[in-house]
Amino acid sequence: MLPIRDCVQQTSGYLPGEQPQTTDYIKLNTNENPYSPPSEIFDNLEEELKKVRLYPDPVSTKLRKAASQVFGFPYEQILAGNGSDDILNIALRTFVNPGETVAFLNPTYSLYETITKVHGADIKTIPTNENFELDSPLICPEAKLIFVASPNPPLGKHLNRQYLKETCKQATGVVLIDEAYVDFSDENHWEFIKQYDNVIVSRTMSKSYSLAGMRVGFGISSLAIIEQMNKVRDSYNLDRIAQTLGANCFQFQDYFQGIWQKVRTTRNRLITSLRNLDFFVFDSDANFVLASPQWIEASELYSKLKERKVLVRYFKQPRISNYVRITVGTDAEIDRLLEVIKQLKNES
Ligand SMILES: Cc1ncc(COP(=O)(O)O)c(C=O)c1O
Repeated sequence: MLPIRDCVQQTSGYLPGEQPQTTDYIKLNTNENPYSPPSEIFDNLEEELKKVRLYPDPVSTKLRKAASQVFGFPYEQILAGNGSDDILNIALRTFVNPGETVAFLNPTYSLYETITKVHGADIKTIPTNENFELDSPLICPEAKLIFVASPNPPLGKHLNRQYLKETCKQATGVVLIDEAYVDFSDENHWEFIKQYDNVIVSRTMSKSYSLAGMRVGFGISSLAIIEQMNKVRDSYNLDRIAQTLGANCFQFQDYFQGIWQKVRTTRNRLITSLRNLDFFVFDSDANFVLASPQWIEASELYSKLKERKVLVRYFKQPRISNYVRITVGTDAEIDRLLEVIKQLKNES
């Protein structure tokens, strides 16, 4: 018998959205950015490729300095991660002993549960209300770490700011605010880092900076927290291509702000159109929407869309099993999605 840890044996592992190996799908299932980054970000890549023999900068200095310009925090307060998932894992391993408690909402980003289980920590889930929102601050005195995403998937809306503030204030452990989708909204939680010394904000370049394939994320917090997390991360946690492309992307703020606005405009059109097609759709602060068709089971809609080469995300999970989550694509992709939905509705 292999000496597999009980907590690993008992975990089914994270189930990512499908990444089809063919290009004939309209891919609206994993919240990637539908627009490519500007081609200039590849200009100095050749130089980096010539250096693949050498290890990358272990502390991602150029990337963190570029992030510092955009985020407005000293680079010493920024930790770079191999995607923001890396930051979540590092936080877990920095602040939580196996057997201690980690708290998060239900439903939320399902990776929190997977990594907490694999770590051997206990989970306390706090249910959201019937609209997937908070009715009160998320309080869990025994939690060494609270993961809280705002905007929170699968709903995609920011959590109530006052409640979140109270969560940070009352927490006895560390609060990690996961801002993976924040650039598609008008709010962020930078001020909580300044107000409370137990708050980490995580950011990713996967969504708003069109770099999901490169795995670049950040943890931003007090010096005291970053110093400890820095000991826990893998020694070369970002490869040199990821560091270079990440730093380059930050030089094109105007371009990216333009595409965030485009995504928001398309998002609003998608929401209105789906409502007109007899879906119940929540508002969204992210690059995806949560929608429940009133004339077909969500699981069936998912399958029928997939047969017609449109991929959306379906979660076979309590509370959200009659919803699909749809990533905001280009206008042409959303037109195609709506066209297929119309056909299916006419056939139903
Ligand atoms: C809330 C949330 N956090 C983090 C991530 C992952 O980000 P990254 O690609 O930087 O690991 C996702 C991806 O779907 C997410 O939904």
